[in-house]
Formats: sequence, C-alpha cells, structure tokens
Amino acid sequence: MIEAQRLTKRYGEKTAVDGLDFVVRPGTVTGFLGPNGAGKSTTMRMIVGLDTPTSGSVTVNGSRYAGHRAPLQEVGALLEARSVHPGRSAYQHLRALALTHGIPRRRVDEVIALTGLGSVAGKRAGSFSLGMGQRLGIAAALLGDPRTVMLDEPVNGLDPEGVLWIRNLLTSLAAEGRTVFVSSHLMSEVAQVADHLIVVGRGRLLADTTVRDLVREAGGDTVRVATGDPGRLREVLAGPGVEITGRPGSEELQVSGVTAREVGLKAAEHGIPLFELSARAVSLESAFMELTRDAVEYHGTTTTAADRTGSAA
Ligand SMILES: Nc1ncnc2c1ncn2[C@@H]1O[C@H](COP(=O)(O)OP(=O)(O)OP(=O)(O)O)[C@@H](O)[C@H]1O
Ligand SMILES: [Mg+2]
Repeated sequence: MIEAQRLTKRYGEKTAVDGLDFVVRPGTVTGFLGPNGAGKSTTMRMIVGLDTPTSGSVTVNGSRYAGHRAPLQEVGALLEARSVHPGRSAYQHLRALALTHGIPRRRVDEVIALTGLGSVAGKRAGSFSLGMGQRLGIAAALLGDPRTVMLDEPVNGLDPEGVLWIRNLLTSLAAEGRTVFVSSHLMSEVAQVADHLIVVGRGRLLADTTVRDLVREAGGDTVRVATGDPGRLREVLAGPGVEITGRPGSEELQVSGVTAREVGLKAAEHGIPLFELSARAVSLESAFMELTRDAVEYHGTTTTAADRTGSAA
C-alpha cells in the first residue's frame, strides 16, 4: 500500500509535484499516467526516499521508506534501469544487493530465472542491451520478494515478447495480493494491465479512476445498432441505467448501459430484426489526451505546407 498526502516537490521555481493525494492498494495493478514531465518519476523517487518532499508525505506499507528495517522486502522499485555498475555481472550485482539484506543466494538464482537472464547472468551489465538492462532492474526490484512493487516505465525498450512478459508478470504479482504501481506515458499500454488509474499533469492530480469508468466517461460503452423496428427495440431495451438515442425515423440507435451481446440477445428474444450491431471501439488514448490536454508541456509542432512555402519565399 502506498499513501501520498499533499505530496509536493519543488525544484527552485519549478513545482514538479503539486499537492498529490492518492492511495495505491494491494491486489490490483495501479497505472500512474501522465505526459512527459508530469512528475511521475519525481513522485516515485519520493516514495523510495531518493528525493525529499518539499511538503506533504508519502508512506509505503504504513511507514516512510527510510523507516523500514528491510526496505527491499517492503518495496521493490525499478527507477533507472541503468543504475548498475557496468563492470559487474548481472549475478554479482544482484548478489551484492542481496547481501545488504541477508537474502540467500537461492533467491538471486530465482529472480535470474524469473526474468529470463539465465544465459547472460555472468556477463558484464555494461554490455547489456536496453531490454536486458530493464530485466536486470526488474530482477533487482523483485529480489526481496516485496509486498509492494513499483516500476517506472518498465516496458521502455522492450520488444513485443518482453512487453507481454511484463504484462503477465504485473498481473500475477497483483493476483498474489501485492501492491503494483507502474508508470507510463502511454494509456494504451497501461490499459492492458491496470484496473486503477492515477493520472497526473504538471504535478497535479487529474484523475483517480478506473479503466472501466474512463471508458464509460469517454462514451466507450456505447453500442450502435440498426434495426427494422427501432421503436420496439427501444421498448425492450429500456431499463435502469440504459440510455438510448437516435434520430427520429432512423433505423440506427445508440445504446449505452448494456453490452452489444445483451442487445443482440434481447432482440433475438423478441424477434426484432437487426441489420447492424457493434460496440463502439473507444480510443482510450484519446480519452487520456482529452484529460491531459492542458497539462502537456512539451508539444510537438507540425510544419504545414504553407509554413514551408513561407520560409522558402
Ligand atoms: N532534479 C531535478 N531538478 C530540477 N528539475 C527537475 C528535477 N527532476 C525533475 N525535474 C522537473 O520536474 C518535472 C517533472 O519531472 P519528472 O521526471 O518527474 O516527470 P515524468 O512524469 O517522470 O516525465 P517522463 O514521462 O518524461 O519520464 C519536469 O519538469 C522536470 O524537468
Ligand atoms: Mg519519468
């Protein structure tokens, strides 16, 4: 469990984290989302005591990180995958970390196997590819068999097989009852694993929600249906929480509050012919962009043909 209260970090004039209040609970994956520079890494650094809050506080499993006697057993964190001595082998790196906590050699072998580093464990970490470095960082995070696991952008640099592996790992850690907190600047990525979402922008909390609610708010649970008898279909679908819209005289209706499957079953039950039935594919990415639009600091620019003509003239 991670609990932040009015958590704030200023660097000179810059407020990187601005009064964040949130709780990350065990047994589920919580996604920590926000555009570049939103304050995700800063928040995570404060969680593990690598940065001191300017004001407010944050605790892991009930106390401040520094207050834990064996922190690696409370929270395993991947922040900078590259913070490994390049001359040490993956095995030596993990073994050295393990020695600080009296963690047995057996556990080092376990995390090496778990992260698929077996064949390169004896190689210098400095020669590792981005993906291998990321796996080593995750191995280190899991070393203490911690109740809370926190990973900052863990899929950066991973190939599709690696991405899938991380997803399965996170889901299974949560299923074991652990607290899993994972950051990303990509909604599509987080939506695949997280149930709970904490969204930040410019250091502020923009949303504390679930993927399900976000989809609903974005109109993603809308079903589009075309039928020969819209009036009758409206009647049989009506019920609490169900909203139906459609232009008068049109065969097409938009239904929310029921699934496409339920619409199909109801229609069949009452012998109502359907011509078309589809669940609107919501773009979570656009819901996220909508939510964070005013909080994006680093906008790209688009050069239009007119601009180019202008500069050439
Ligand atoms: N040590 C520091 N000194 C000064 N400013 C900093 C420092 N660390 C972070 N910042 C600033 O604080 C803001 C938040 O940065 P942070 O790295 O936490 O964002 P982020 O959400 O992790 O972004 P990204 O998605 O790019 O990783 C940024 O504007 C950054 O420039
Ligand atoms: Mg970051």
